[in-house]
Amino acid sequence: MKILVADYIYTPKGFVEYQAVAFDTHIKAVDTLEKLLETYPKAQIIRTAPHSVIYPGFINTHVHLEFSANKTSLEYGSFMPWLDSVIANRDELMQCCDNKMMHKECDNMLRSGITTFGAISSFGTELEVCEKTPQRVVFFNELIGSNAQYADMLYNDFLERVKASQSCSKSSKIIPAVAIHSPYSVHPVILEKAVALAKAHQMPLSSHFLESQAEREWLEKGEGEFKAFFEKYFNTSKPVSTIEEFIHAFDNYPAHFTHAVQATKEELAYLKSRGHSIAHCPRSNRYLGCGRLAVETLRELELPYSVATDGLSSNDSLSIFDEFRAALMLHHQAPINKLAPLLIKASTQDAAEILGLNCGRIEADRLADLVVVTLPDLPQTKEEIALWSIIHTKEISEVYIEGVKYV
Ligand code: BEZ
Ligand code: FE2
Repeated sequence: MKILVADYIYTPKGFVEYQAVAFDTHIKAVDTLEKLLETYPKAQIIRTAPHSVIYPGFINTHVHLEFSANKTSLEYGSFMPWLDSVIANRDELMQCCDNKMMHKECDNMLRSGITTFGAISSFGTELEVCEKTPQRVVFFNELIGSNAQYADMLYNDFLERVKASQSCSKSSKIIPAVAIHSPYSVHPVILEKAVALAKAHQMPLSSHFLESQAEREWLEKGEGEFKAFFEKYFNTSKPVSTIEEFIHAFDNYPAHFTHAVQATKEELAYLKSRGHSIAHCPRSNRYLGCGRLAVETLRELELPYSVATDGLSSNDSLSIFDEFRAALMLHHQAPINKLAPLLIKASTQDAAEILGLNCGRIEADRLADLVVVTLPDLPQTKEEIALWSIIHTKEISEVYIEGVKYV
């Protein structure tokens, strides 16, 4: 048994002062050190540095490790030129991205306080890295393929990758999961099969959704920048689904939709009514010129959301704190002291609930995934702790996953 003592602890009831957390693999109790020592007299006491805050480990719900080699290869600024650059550079980027590089990015995530991440896997090449990394990994096997001719072949390849991740889940912290690439790139027949598979195995389910204006125009009218793209690469000029058809494919099983920047309020309200949620990637959206997700509308609709970095294919780091700081800037109209705690909650308890994980909250019986953030000085009020944490944290001080210390 360990007892971690800090000036502040972020609990589901807010920040509490001068308390401590008792844990082994799971959290046992949150109380004063004196009270905890009455119950656990032999526990190892760990005192954190002054002005430290214990948070639940952060959850980055959406990252593409396989694209970690990108620095300046892909074109940022606008979605369609970026997608073209992905097609042109994909093979080379994949080749340059070895296990060492992906391990390093997992470690960077760990040092930013990410104890669980959702790995969107196009090819399964990061499976070994995800098996070895200390973090819990929701391993999202991605299905892609709009062309009916190749759909069965691509579905079978996807099934093999799902099986491989299922085998790994017995000896690692991998949780097998299903990702649909997008409404424009997955044929409705295999889409239906994949959603049914996720439901049958109760696997987390995710999909990119209405990321760009070009995607919306293509799905609504079969027009715009995607038209030339599909004519060039796929010899077609008709989208495989409408927005409505795509959304209805998920009617019977909740999914985590990534981006949704271009979704209307009505579409978001429908997602809420079906128990879905949104992954918000502020830097990716800004770098690819996709616009700003109206998080205030998500709040108004009580549509849950997480915060995610997306991959290095559309970002500059996989740090969750870099992402929080970007969110504070992107949503410049929001009162900053109100937004900061919402971002923290979105990346801990909300993300855990969305992915069906028993972490994300510092309370008894949750997995002991804990992160220590050390502020450079004393906060004046408890209400400011979330904001100071986001502004000042470049690296966290300590990380525990299932009670084991990794940083
Ligand atoms: C498709 O299969 O339709 C597709 C694949 C990659 C990017 C876009 C579309
Ligand atoms: Fe993505």
